[in-house]
Amino acid sequence: MKQPVLFLFIFVQFISCNSWQEKSSDNDVAWEQLHPGVWKNIIGTPSSLSLLRASGRIPRTATLDTMEASGFPLDADEIITYESGHKTYIRLPLDREEQIYGLGLQFKSIHRRGQILRLHVDHYGREDNGRTHAPVPFFVSSKGYGVLIDAARYIDMYIGTGVRKDSKNPPPLQDRNTDPGWSARPYSDNIEIMVPEEGVRIYVFEGPDMLKAIQRFNLFCGGGIIPPKWGLGFWQRTPTLFNQQDVSDEIRSFNERGFPLDVIGLEPGWHSRAYPCTFEWDPDRFPNPAGFTDTLLNEGIHLNLWMNPYLSPEGSLYNKMEPWSGTHTVWNGIVPDYTLEEPRNIMQRHLQKHQIDIGISGFKIDELDGYDVWLWPDAAQFPSGYDGEQLRQVYGLLTMDLIRDLYREKNQRTYGLVRAANAGATSMPFVIYNDYYSHPDFITALINSSFSGILWTPEVRSSGSAEEWLRRFQTVCFSPLAMINAWADGTKPWSFPEVEKEVRYFALLRMQLLPYLYSTFADYYFKGIPPFRAMVLETGFADTTDYEHTDSGSNPYKEAVLKEIKDQYMVGNDLLIAPLFEFQKERSVVLPQGNWFDFYTGEYAGNGELIFVQPGLDKIPVFVKDGGIIPMIEPRTRMPGPGEIADLNIRYYGNAPGSFWLYDDDGSSYDYESGIYSFTRLTVDQSKGMPEPSIEKAKEGPYHYQNESWIFMTPQNTR
Ligand code: GAL
Repeated sequence: MKQPVLFLFIFVQFISCNSWQEKSSDNDVAWEQLHPGVWKNIIGTPSSLSLLRASGRIPRTATLDTMEASGFPLDADEIITYESGHKTYIRLPLDREEQIYGLGLQFKSIHRRGQILRLHVDHYGREDNGRTHAPVPFFVSSKGYGVLIDAARYIDMYIGTGVRKDSKNPPPLQDRNTDPGWSARPYSDNIEIMVPEEGVRIYVFEGPDMLKAIQRFNLFCGGGIIPPKWGLGFWQRTPTLFNQQDVSDEIRSFNERGFPLDVIGLEPGWHSRAYPCTFEWDPDRFPNPAGFTDTLLNEGIHLNLWMNPYLSPEGSLYNKMEPWSGTHTVWNGIVPDYTLEEPRNIMQRHLQKHQIDIGISGFKIDELDGYDVWLWPDAAQFPSGYDGEQLRQVYGLLTMDLIRDLYREKNQRTYGLVRAANAGATSMPFVIYNDYYSHPDFITALINSSFSGILWTPEVRSSGSAEEWLRRFQTVCFSPLAMINAWADGTKPWSFPEVEKEVRYFALLRMQLLPYLYSTFADYYFKGIPPFRAMVLETGFADTTDYEHTDSGSNPYKEAVLKEIKDQYMVGNDLLIAPLFEFQKERSVVLPQGNWFDFYTGEYAGNGELIFVQPGLDKIPVFVKDGGIIPMIEPRTRMPGPGEIADLNIRYYGNAPGSFWLYDDDGSSYDYESGIYSFTRLTVDQSKGMPEPSIEKAKEGPYHYQNESWIFMTPQNTR
């Protein structure tokens, strides 16, 4: 080797050794406390495009700053980071009993420990491998802290799988020849993360418990949303190519049969061309969109429009947007780069003029998640200079953000659907859906959504039997968005006449629950509490750290709480939902500690135990916490419109003192953000041995209830 070459070789070796040198985070970059219990660290030089930036979120600073905190929840010396080969490595410690939850919309599992995920926005492919509609890189630990890796990249997560030579808790050496307990997956004491970028922003959220860590994360992402009241009613998506007349007929048949209906979703067919889309009304199917929308609004029906974001050469947007689009097309449509202001404005002005100003209430943003074979490749380039991978991770966020901002400008709330999201979506008024149609896995996704600041609907499309139809319908009524998506099958709520009565009962129950659901969403907005959530976030539900793994013995409750609970969930503070699936005649339900009561009868159901229920097809098991107060309205077929007043029936369950914060506002504008809303405190005092209810205005503001009456659901002689 010649001298200069040798020198260069040694120099390169020196540089690369150095770049591989590990740094524990405290002597590298200090953790900066942004709000009490919210900590940030920047490693290296991350791209200017991150998930949080793309989401346009505005942290709920005032609330975050009032939350108590006690200090950085991890040992900073144990967090190791380094950059190497254009990648950033992060290592976090794991305790033996620690469980990890979150990392987005996975469908089959809740426990993340032992999994390897590549977080990649995509259509879900029947495997929890990280490719999904919302692969949110935020996790919470059963030790009561959360971590967000804010990078718009495909992030590799090894959650308790890699074993390092320098591990402080190495697995025991085992000889497979002789040891029947030998394991191919030895114990690992860390989470290892690879971000394919030369730097990354990391956030740590303090608890003290998982729910508090999630609340901080949600508030940091802008806080949860409060849907307009109509959004919590019943949605029907009509078949592809439906026209104005078909829609009117559809509404008439809902009215004739007494089925609730608040939103009609138009699927492909309203655009003059679809896949790619023109964003122009088809003149034959919808000759008078403005008049038609107006007529529907007068009937209390809101229109939601399907779209995918790829622009057709046959539409007027194409030429204006072409210079602002990426190098690749999707179905021959161009892909605007919405990280830039100009194309964002062009799209906003178009949607405003042709759709929003004529009264369209929201959108369903389809097809921006995958699959690889039809979306742009990672090698695609965009005018902003960001690449295909980055745009893939944020396209859902960018599109939601531009639509949300349009409605905000009008001071009008929207509520819609989307098929791709990511971290920062908490304050987006959109619910995720997909084509994968496993009913049990839809419920697992609903549970997982609570760890990631997103909303999910287990939409109903079609069914092979009346039983499946009703079982699916029961669960969608206890979800963020109650909807039949009939785009392909033309199904109606009454498609299975043998269960029509039961389907109507649950659709009407959904409507009755408005005050409860609306107040639950207010908790999402004001406190960051997920409205639909996992059992492990419930007080009284022992998390896995409460029991020794060896201490299962004969207590079925202990055994149950140590396992993944992926088929039951909480709605708000008081309702526990335990769905049944087709062919299931009975199921077990884990009732957390504290007394629980049957929602329908008020009877005592159990306390800190595993119960078995055989509810019959006409019931989805629902349990109410002791002292639970469930405010409801009368059954109705439209959600209350602006200024409309409804009678309030307040159900009270059990015998414990009860308290419920009933929230209300105008139901449709953003005025609540300026303090125009009311809180009414509903309480039941039990100190004199009998329930004494009271209703007290805690904050004056819009209030649309009257004739408040109490219903004591639990017979007083039961416990
Ligand atoms: C799918 C979507 C369906 C429906 C359909 C219309 O991608 O998931 O819900 O909208 O497109 O073509």
